Order: sequence, then C-alpha cells, then structure tokens
Amino acid sequence: MVSREFLLELPKCEHHLHLEGTLEPDLLFPLAKRNNITLPEVFPKSVEELKDKYGKFRDLQDFLDYYYIGTNVLIKEQDFFDLAWAYFEKVYKQGLFHAEVFYDPQSHTSRGISLETVTKGFQRACDKALVEFGITSKLIMCLLRHIEPEECLKTIEEAAPFIEDGTISALGLDSAERPFPPNLFVECYQKAASLNENLRLTAHAGEEGPAQFVSDALDLLQVTRIDHGINSQHDDELLDRLARDRTLLTICPLSNVKLQVVKSVSELPLQKFLDKNVPFSLNSDDPAYFGGYILDNYIQVSKDFPHWDHETWGHIAKNAINGSWCNDKRKNDLLDKVDQVVAKHSI
Ligand code: ADE
Ligand code: ZN
Repeated sequence: MVSREFLLELPKCEHHLHLEGTLEPDLLFPLAKRNNITLPEVFPKSVEELKDKYGKFRDLQDFLDYYYIGTNVLIKEQDFFDLAWAYFEKVYKQGLFHAEVFYDPQSHTSRGISLETVTKGFQRACDKALVEFGITSKLIMCLLRHIEPEECLKTIEEAAPFIEDGTISALGLDSAERPFPPNLFVECYQKAASLNENLRLTAHAGEEGPAQFVSDALDLLQVTRIDHGINSQHDDELLDRLARDRTLLTICPLSNVKLQVVKSVSELPLQKFLDKNVPFSLNSDDPAYFGGYILDNYIQVSKDFPHWDHETWGHIAKNAINGSWCNDKRKNDLLDKVDQVVAKHSI
C-alpha cells in the first residue's frame, strides 16, 4: 500500500465539492447565532448530537433534508466567504492544487438572498485562495433538480451576468436524482449554454439513478463530465463511450458509503474503470457531512485498493488533471509535479 506521505504530496484536483457541504457543525451553530436563525425544533441541539446524526444517513434524501436546513444559517456575503475560505484552508494542508467547486444558489435565493451576494462571497474566497495558497479554482453553479424547470430558467436569467463574464465557469445539476431525470432540464442547459460558448456542462447522474440517466445527461444535456456516475458500471457500451470521449467521472468514495450507495469503498467499480480506461477523479462531495476531505478520500481508497502502486496513483492523479477545466499551462505544471512525486517515492 502506498504511504500517506505519498498521497499527501501527490498534486490533487477536486471536481466534486459542494461549498454548502463544507459547513461543519462547529461553524453551523455560531452562524445560526450570529444571524439570529432559529433552527427547527427537531434539529440536533449540539455539535456532538449533529455529528452523531451525520454518521447515520439512510440515503441521499435523508442527507439532503439536513443539508438544506444547514444552508439556512448563511445570510451575508461574509458568511459565504467564511465558509469557502475555511474549506480552502483545510485542503491546502492536504495537497490540493486545483478545485472546481459547486454551489446551489437556489437554496439561498429561495430565502431572499441574492444570487449576487452568494456568488461574490464565494468568488472572493476563490481569489484569496489563489493569492495565498496558489490554489486555482472554478465556480460551478448547480440547479436543484427538485425545483420546477421553469423556476430554474429564471435562476439562469438571474445568473446571466456571471455566466457571461466567466465568474461562473460551469453549470451542474444536483439534489434528489431518481424522481427528477435529466430530460426535465434540456431547456435550462440549452439556455445557459447560449449565454457563453465557453460555459462547461456537467450533471450529477448515476449516483442513486440508473446508467440510463448518465447516457441521457450526455445525449440530452450535452454534458462533458458526469458527477458520480458509478452506475455506469452496469452498461459496457456506456463505459466504452466514456473512455473514448475521455468523459471524467467525479467519484466520491466516502459519500457513497455514508449515503449507503455501497457498503464499503472496496465495492466501488474503480478497478473496472481503470481496466476499461474510463477516467475518474476522487472527491469529497460534502466533507462536513461525510467525515472526510480530499486526502481522507484518497487514503480510504488506498486502504481498500492496497495493490495500487505509485504508478497507478500517478495515473489517477493525471486523469484528474487532464479532466480539469484549467488552462494547458496549469495542467502541464501539475502533470510535471505528479511525475516528480511518483519518481521521488518510487526509489
Ligand atoms: N447535493 C449535495 N450533495 C449531493 C449529492 N451527493 N447528490 C446530489 N445532490 C447533492
Ligand atoms: Zn454531489
């Protein structure tokens, strides 16, 4: 098994991280107090009680119910900045070099907070991460699939200035998957893409939903990346397509265990993806809720796939870099760094 030191030094990119999912219980309660937010009567009353609940989610919906309550404590631009900055401080120490991060503006605009407030707070943290840590990043705006598509179209209109000026680099789709398939959002994706030809498109698919949702996201929404996508494992033709088109799957190992998608990380089809040449990256999804940030996910995978050597890990790190949306210069710098770290640890 490779060492923790090696995994720490390996240049890592994160492509599947919900900024709202980095809200640690020990920030949630102080923010609720600072903003005079009354949490629901049934909500856990202490950090310990809340952490205990986070260890016992039944499924995606059970988690989402808590996740959306948590977002209620975020009100001011400074709150959004503080949240994202706390994330960057943590992952800098874990060897993260590049982050493409999701946020859910609709969980804030539905409470009367402007999309501008949220976006500016998050963007300010991204700018500071570049200056202080050299971490490059991109913002991905997600639509909540449990919200009516007509409402989602309005959100895209509100976000238009940020899509047009490139502050928002990509569009994503998250929340409850099975009841809300990709075909509902065709018009939304077309509308967003028409605002800026450089806008990238991705969507959560194949987390709890079937492989067909992955194919539908590719065909109907024209996405070039799939978030989760582990159920692609059941469709060999789809796997061939993902490999041929170099479509990155953003896999979230600890999340999949905590949301009972799999019983253990060893059940994930990662060896199959490697054998079939399907590119994937390893990510933390909602680290405050699932018990681990990026390095913790890498370490857990190394324990469950102990035969993977430095070369294999170098290959995984390079797939993550090549599947990123940063420029070629940044990619080449990071690819060189991977070679250096692999060489250093292989002697
Ligand atoms: N929102 C935050 N995390 C999510 C996940 N894993 N799946 C769907 N929606 C989400
Ligand atoms: Zn997610």
